[in-house]
Amino acid sequence: MFGLLITIALVAAVDMEEWDPIKNQLKDFMASTDGPIGTLTTSGGTPVSDHEATSTLDTDSVIDNEYFLDKITHFVEEKIPERIVHPKGSGAFGYFEVTHDISDICKANFLSKVGKKTPIAARLSTTRGNRGGSDVNRDTRGMSIKFYTEEGNLDLTGFSTSVFTIKDAVHFDSANHAAGINPATGFTDISTFWDFLSSLPESIFLVLQLFSDLGIPAGYAHMAAHPIHTYQVVNDCGVYHFVRFHFIPDAGIKHLTSAEAKNISSNDPDFMGRDLFTRIAKGQYPTWTVSVQILSEADLKKTGHIVFDVTTLISTRDFPLLPVGKIVLNENPNNYHAQVEQMAFCPSSLVPGILGAPDKLFLARRLAYRHSQMYRLGSNFKKIPVNCPFRVDTHTYVRDGVPPVGDNEKGAPNYYPNSFNGAEPYREKYNSKLIKIKETSRVNNLGQAAEYYEELSSGEKSRLIDNFSDGLKGALPMIQIKVLNLIKRIHRKLGEQLAKKLKM
Ligand code: HEM
Repeated sequence: MFGLLITIALVAAVDMEEWDPIKNQLKDFMASTDGPIGTLTTSGGTPVSDHEATSTLDTDSVIDNEYFLDKITHFVEEKIPERIVHPKGSGAFGYFEVTHDISDICKANFLSKVGKKTPIAARLSTTRGNRGGSDVNRDTRGMSIKFYTEEGNLDLTGFSTSVFTIKDAVHFDSANHAAGINPATGFTDISTFWDFLSSLPESIFLVLQLFSDLGIPAGYAHMAAHPIHTYQVVNDCGVYHFVRFHFIPDAGIKHLTSAEAKNISSNDPDFMGRDLFTRIAKGQYPTWTVSVQILSEADLKKTGHIVFDVTTLISTRDFPLLPVGKIVLNENPNNYHAQVEQMAFCPSSLVPGILGAPDKLFLARRLAYRHSQMYRLGSNFKKIPVNCPFRVDTHTYVRDGVPPVGDNEKGAPNYYPNSFNGAEPYREKYNSKLIKIKETSRVNNLGQAAEYYEELSSGEKSRLIDNFSDGLKGALPMIQIKVLNLIKRIHRKLGEQLAKKLKM
């Protein structure tokens, strides 16, 4: 009896190990049905005859075949604009659970008590490249979370590096142009990448992280992410605090070497997405601990406004990471286009208690994301099911526009103020608003970049030098010299070793 049970368990374990949820998706779908799922119809719901479905040859006209017309005219419109950055990504669903109470500093309802669970959607992505490209390249990566709270959706977009490239949004398009293709040749031009970055010394801290082991995670489940901005939060008494969030993978931060990544990428350019999907399908749910660094208004008086600079870290010695909750991803999307491609994260999707960040880059992002999403998904992108704040009854004065419009607020008044029981704003106890900060274009982070390098182990240092010189060797010599001069300003020894490696 026990022998039989052990055999069944072993067979199940082997099956589980070998079962490939991606390869078997259609087979699994078939197994979940008793036969064809229904009669074939046109998009308009008209049943399609076998005659129409099988051939347009030897017919009087193709225009009278609605089945064919429906398919061919729709097919040529299937593609929508991809995201201008982070176009290649994978999505998943799950929940956020509060493990530690921070309701004394933030009144957001989803953080109100330990054990409270909030459904979430997540998208994990590379930053550069295109939708069909590799997700195993050396790159920064994104991890965005949409919290479907009872007070509307909160979107936090995280980066795999702990700092951002630039602190002034005026450089955003140039930074991406320089890292993209040369407009004359149509090919990637490594010289423009290095030329631009070395013109903005504050970007070098991110570049060191990018060329260190951090640049290629061993799968999304092993990647940390940082929403970076210092968010202003407010409690029930109207008192402000300032918070940096961090998502740390419970499976540990692990990386691939450049050689391992090249090898994987040539066999499977979708490695990161495939790994995420497979883990979830097999019940090995990836989880992250969400931690915060908290600063009070009194702390701000001591630190100054540098803590809002997205190119610098806030010291964990002075402001340690305090756990708040867990992110668990336990459900795969069932339709990539509907649920992942159409996901839209807006830094401006905030909830009462979380006011956003007071730096200008954040404000620029409030505008840019919305514009991007209107362009690629249309003005009603928040009515697309995956973006809907489904736990709230929405009542807005927003109307019409391109589909989907939902119920378009039915018969409710479409102007405000009105005398006909249209929706009314709630009365806030305290008039919370973002503080005004003084920002500087001064480069604040060269010391942090040097410290980051110093703290690497000797193995990590030597891999960074190899990766860095590999990345730089294709650039024009004049650009290589410019980069090396900057690196020497940060860390003389690193600069010298790089120069040696590049035979400069
Ligand atoms: C001037 C600063 C920035 C601008 C103008 C900008 C702009 C954009 C735009 C237009 C998108 C595409 C949005 C869409 O179509 O759905 C995007 C995506 C993204 N950005 Fe930014 N961004 C900036 C800074 C940042 C920072 C500081 C972070 C991280 C802390 C970040 C993380 C992301 C992520 C993770 C995505 C992908 C979202 C997704 O998965 O759909 N960005 N960004």
